[in-house]
Amino acid sequence: MPRIAYVNGRYVAHSDASVHIEDRGYQFADGVYEVCEVARGFIVDSVGHLDRLDRSLSELRIDWPVNRAVLVHVMREVIRRNRVHNGMVYLQVTRGVAPRDHVFPANGTRPALVVTAKRTDPVAAAKKAGAGLKVITVPENRWERVDIKSVGLLPNVLARQQAKEAGAQEAWFVDPDGTVKEGAATNAWIVTRDGVLVTRPADHGILRGITRATLFKVAEKLGLTVEERGFTVAEAKAAREAFITAATTVIMPIVAIDGQPVANGHPGSVALSLREAFFDVAEKIQA
Ligand code: PDD
Repeated sequence: MPRIAYVNGRYVAHSDASVHIEDRGYQFADGVYEVCEVARGFIVDSVGHLDRLDRSLSELRIDWPVNRAVLVHVMREVIRRNRVHNGMVYLQVTRGVAPRDHVFPANGTRPALVVTAKRTDPVAAAKKAGAGLKVITVPENRWERVDIKSVGLLPNVLARQQAKEAGAQEAWFVDPDGTVKEGAATNAWIVTRDGVLVTRPADHGILRGITRATLFKVAEKLGLTVEERGFTVAEAKAAREAFITAATTVIMPIVAIDGQPVANGHPGSVALSLREAFFDVAEKIQA
């Protein structure tokens, strides 16, 4: 079945989908994006993702390309045309197409919108969760506004590639004082010896993950305490459990950090029970 993408008002074959060479996303990474999970025929946490899109756009003074209701319609349509029951929907908004110039283009330049969707295999994901993931740590080298979900992801790309080359699946950015910020495309968590969930406060230094926010509710449902504070790599290595969250992975246990096993080197039961409980707690709309 051919994949379909939405590009600036048209549904086109994914293989032919293209944007102009002077799209500012292409030339300056002058754009933002969102990724929503599609699970069991529902778009998960769309309200949170679209609220964050609104914030990212307004921080960068990019207009909405279409209104919110139309965007939800397009997301649903792309999901439907690609027959995605489990997977994700990706949306990207850039400041539009204009002759290359660092300053903003003339008023009236229309923001560009691309929406794609792809299937994922929930059985393979569950298997991955059952095995757990490995992370490496890398020095934080990103700009100070990573709370904006910008498509400028070069440090994240390089960190993920470094993780891959080290036999790991994620890289955690770490501040000079040893505090863990977040992963290249995930938020970072630990479970202390006392069973408390710890994650760094979501200020400008990390992306305020939507999965992270929902996990606070999941934790409450399971009677778990969450503490929002920084934790160091050393604390994570000595923790009872570590895990990561993102729309693409939901919750994935971490079994090794920089080659050192976390606890007994097997996925933790808290992470797995949070993963199990997530879908029921998350906000959902029919895809
Ligand atoms: N990444 N931190 C970073 C740097 C991220 O890129 C992401 C998401 C997250 C988790 O946010 P959320 O729970 O809202 O997905 C944290 C997406 C999935 C990506 O780049 O593919």
